[in-house]
Amino acid sequence: MAGFFISFEGIDKSGKSTQAARLVRYLQEAGREVVFTHEPGGTELGQELRHLALNWKPQNSQSGVDPTAEIFLFAADRAQHVAEIIQPALEEGKIVVTDRYVDSTLAYQGYGRGLDLDQLEKIQQIATGGLLPDLTVWVDVDLATSRGRLAPGGADRMESEDDALFESVREGYGHLSLASPNRFLKVDGTRTIDDIFEEIRNGVEARLA
Ligand code: ADP
Ligand code: TYD
Repeated sequence: MAGFFISFEGIDKSGKSTQAARLVRYLQEAGREVVFTHEPGGTELGQELRHLALNWKPQNSQSGVDPTAEIFLFAADRAQHVAEIIQPALEEGKIVVTDRYVDSTLAYQGYGRGLDLDQLEKIQQIATGGLLPDLTVWVDVDLATSRGRLAPGGADRMESEDDALFESVREGYGHLSLASPNRFLKVDGTRTIDDIFEEIRNGVEARLA
């Protein structure tokens, strides 16, 4: 596989989609072939799974999406995403930039919801065939910054969760980045869009060189 695989991670409203889009534009202007994609919902099937994971509301029962069921909704989305979009593009030698990937599950379902990390890793292995990003950009912001960027009334099921969950998710990203220091590039997302991007661009260029 000759391509290069980059994922963007962070808590909601960290600014990672803004940075990912900017990186894609930069790489395309430099003449690189880039596929820009996202989870959940990067495929047609994934759009349905995204709705189920984030916006589905039960009509005739009290319970919402069970935490274990939630893992498999995201895993199904990821398996389809790898098979349909990511793997073929990498095989064609393209750069793939995805807004969220396996670390989102480990951070949100693992560290955030407290589900068993070893089991989550095994499910990721099955969903992705073991495909990991070459580079993971973690755009790190504190919770107050994240909440301050949330449009009023715009919260989905996950964004309506308590602050404690997002604090745990953020800590989770910290653990994950320490465990894979060569793969992770942590950037301080509380600065200006330009300052953050400059650091990301330098990090990406260094790895592509
Ligand atoms: P995410 O993908 O992490 O949810 P977005 O990139 O969609 O975040 O950004 C969330 C909101 O914050 C958007 O309104 C965006 O314009 C704004 N934003 C992004 N980066 C910054 C930044 N560095 N400083 C201030 N606002 C930002
Ligand atoms: P999205 O609207 O794409 O938000 P963002 O702009 O923050 O990426 O919503 C994705 C939500 O789903 C976000 O709250 C994180 C959550 N999520 C998980 O909990 N586990 C996962 O594996 C993935 C991919 C996302």
